[in-house]
Amino acid sequence: SKTHKIAIVGGDGTGPEVVAEGVKVLKAAGERGNISYEFVEFPLGGENYMKTGDLLTQETLDSLKTMDAIYLGAIGHPDVKPGILEKGILLDLRFSLDQYINLRPVKLYEGVDTPLKDKGPEDIDFVVVRENTEGLYAGAGGVLKKGTLDEVAVQESINTRKGAERCIRYAFEYCQKRNNKKGKKVTLCGKTNVLTFAFDLWERVFYEVAKEYPDIEADYAHVDATCMWMVKNPEWFDVIVTDNMFGDIITDLGAMIQGGMGIAAGGNINPEGVSMFEPIGGSAPKYTGMGIINPIAAIGAGQIMLDTLGETEAASWIEQGIIKVLRDDLKDLAAGKMGFSTSEVGDLIADFVKNSAK
Ligand code: IPM
Ligand code: MN
Repeated sequence: SKTHKIAIVGGDGTGPEVVAEGVKVLKAAGERGNISYEFVEFPLGGENYMKTGDLLTQETLDSLKTMDAIYLGAIGHPDVKPGILEKGILLDLRFSLDQYINLRPVKLYEGVDTPLKDKGPEDIDFVVVRENTEGLYAGAGGVLKKGTLDEVAVQESINTRKGAERCIRYAFEYCQKRNNKKGKKVTLCGKTNVLTFAFDLWERVFYEVAKEYPDIEADYAHVDATCMWMVKNPEWFDVIVTDNMFGDIITDLGAMIQGGMGIAAGGNINPEGVSMFEPIGGSAPKYTGMGIINPIAAIGAGQIMLDTLGETEAASWIEQGIIKVLRDDLKDLAAGKMGFSTSEVGDLIADFVKNSAK
């Protein structure tokens, strides 16, 4: 079998600790399934920036382009002004590698508490397909008369026909392939009642693409209503497709209803290029080096990575391990309250993957 070349970007704060557990689990799946990897570490992040002044250099980008995937911990440092690392590293990676999909599953596992009353694993199981290279994130706009009482700040949302279409198409394709018990449905989450240029484009393209998928129900919801229904009737959703900003916001809500940042994982995907997988929580600087942070979100990101690399069986072993540990072992998902250390959680899942997964 092929050797997967994986770039390891531990990054900041607890990023390196959780990624180390993810690598442990990937290796366990590799042993079990005869999958080989070449791991290459890249020292990107806040520490590196403060030492060298470098964010994402052309040289680093060029080497990343030779990899099969990137496994990322977290980017964000308390001593660096907000925006510098986020835009200079994380968003630059997403944009430069044209990772136009941000895939974020929202799935409540058995044994995990949700703040939603009377909702269980059968109700909370959907996927958000977030557009990842355009919208308000594109950096278009500017400021006039900065610092004066007449200051005007403009931040524009860029929406291209091609960008919306490839994202919407990905959502329908993903929905088609997705294994779930419910009927197949893709919901466009937008704001057609106010953002009449951007979401008119999205809506037209959405219903056009939907025609090619007659077996999938095509549905529309405004973003505010989407938030309401994610809380009130999460069982209505199967695949949600949305723009960059709305996707950012609703996936934090999604993370909370599935048990919190300790468990939420996602993939920044370029189906034709190099994709990047990350736990969606931040760098949690106050827990750095204490060995108490929950690595499950990072391990879940590893699962999505293997799945995307075509190692679907190994990915399912990892999911089974996550399910087992959440159901039988962890007391709580919060840092310091799990009843196990970060590396013990990694061991539990790695052992399950090696010895018990079906
Ligand atoms: C996320 C994060 C990033 C985003 C930040 C850190 C730039 O919130 O991955 O959701 O806004 O996309
Ligand atoms: Mn976010």
